[in-house]
Amino acid sequence: MVHPQDVPIAVIGGSGLYHLDNLEVIEEVNPETPWGFASDKIIIARSPSGCKIAFLARHGRGHYLTPSEVPSRANIAALKHLGVKAILAFSAVGSLREEIPPCDFVLPDQVIDRTKGIRPSTFFGEGLVAHAMFADPFHAGLADLVYAQREVLDFGAKIHKNKTAVCMEGPAFSTRAESHMYRAWGADIINMSALPEAKLAREAEIDYQMVCMSTDYDCWRVEEEAVTVETVMQNMVNNGANAKKLLLAVLPSLEEAVSKDALLPNYKGSMKFSGMTASE
Ligand code: ADE
Repeated sequence: MVHPQDVPIAVIGGSGLYHLDNLEVIEEVNPETPWGFASDKIIIARSPSGCKIAFLARHGRGHYLTPSEVPSRANIAALKHLGVKAILAFSAVGSLREEIPPCDFVLPDQVIDRTKGIRPSTFFGEGLVAHAMFADPFHAGLADLVYAQREVLDFGAKIHKNKTAVCMEGPAFSTRAESHMYRAWGADIINMSALPEAKLAREAEIDYQMVCMSTDYDCWRVEEEAVTVETVMQNMVNNGANAKKLLLAVLPSLEEAVSKDALLPNYKGSMKFSGMTASE
C-alpha cells in the first residue's frame, strides 16, 4: 500500500508514452483532490534500486483527453499528495527549427504561453493570493541529469537543451502564419501540454522538467507538407521507445539527487516568498 508522501519521483507521459516498461508495478492509486481526479489512475512502480516512481498518462491511457481537457490541477495535486518532489514530463512537440528533426528530444528552459486565460492555471484565487516566481519555468538541474544520458537514445536521435517552447491551445495545429510568427518570436518547439502543468508544479513546489520529443516540423518549412496526424503517429512510436530508455538511464542519478535534496535550483519553500495573503 502506497503511503502518501512515499513516492518522490513522478513521470508524466504524453502522446506516445502511456506506460513504463521494465519497472515493477506495485499498485494503482486514484486520490481525489479538491480539483477532482487525475487524468487516469496513477501507477506506482518500483525502480531497480527500490525507489517508488509514480506514472501518470496525461491524456489518459486510452488517449481520451484533448490537451484542453487535461485536469492539470488534479494531476499535480494528486502527485503532490503522493509526496512527489520531482517530475519528468514527457510531451510530443513540433519542431520550429531545421536543426531539430523529428525523433530528436528537447529540454526546453523557456516557454511562451498561448493558453493564457483559457485553461485554469493556478491553485490560488478565491481569497487566497499568491504569485509564484516563474521566470525560469523548468528545472535546470533535472535537465542536466537527463542531458547527461543523451547517448542512450536510438534512431540517431539527439537531445537539445536551452530551447524555447510555445504552448498553444489546439487541438488543431497552427496555421503557417502562426508557425512563422512563433519562429520570429524565437521559439524552437511547439506543443499543447507544457502549460498550465509547469506553472502548477511550481506553485506546488515540485521540481519540473519537460522532456520534449519531436514528432514533426510543424508547417513553417517550405518543403514540408502541412503537419498530418499520420506523420506525428509514426514518429511517436520511436519516441516512446526512446523515452523509456532515457528514463531507465536517468533514474539512478535522479533518485540520488532527489533523496539527498541535492537538485539545484531549490524551489522548496519558494512559495513562502510569493506574497501569499488570505482573506479574513
Ligand atoms: N505536438 C506535436 N506536434 C505538434 C505541433 N506541430 N504543434 C503543436 N503541438 C504538437
